[in-house]
Amino acid sequence: MFQPLSPDADSASLEIWIDQQPVRVPCGYSVAAALLLAGHRHQRDSLLSGRPRGTYCMMGVCYECLVEIDGIENRQACMTEVEAGMVIRRQRAAGQQDGPTPEALDHGH
Ligand code: FES
Repeated sequence: MFQPLSPDADSASLEIWIDQQPVRVPCGYSVAAALLLAGHRHQRDSLLSGRPRGTYCMMGVCYECLVEIDGIENRQACMTEVEAGMVIRRQRAAGQQDGPTPEALDHGH
């Protein structure tokens, strides 16, 4: 499973909320890294097949990591740094706001 390379290198942490549960994560982590650290590999459902999707590229290319952050859907978890008090929800249905099309999100899977 996901393990930090240097878990004691920076002891500063902050609290975020993932699916209504408080989670402490190191400062500077991306939301995707925080989700993985908390054991959440399933970050959204495929819009076409309904199958579980999760972080893949960790560099803003694949769009597999879309989550709701502070009430805004379809945010790329891998490209967003955690902030104290941030509220994250894993998406279980199609987002209603502007974002990539369902076809772009599923890559034919
Ligand atoms: S994991 Fe690929 S865009 Fe975020």
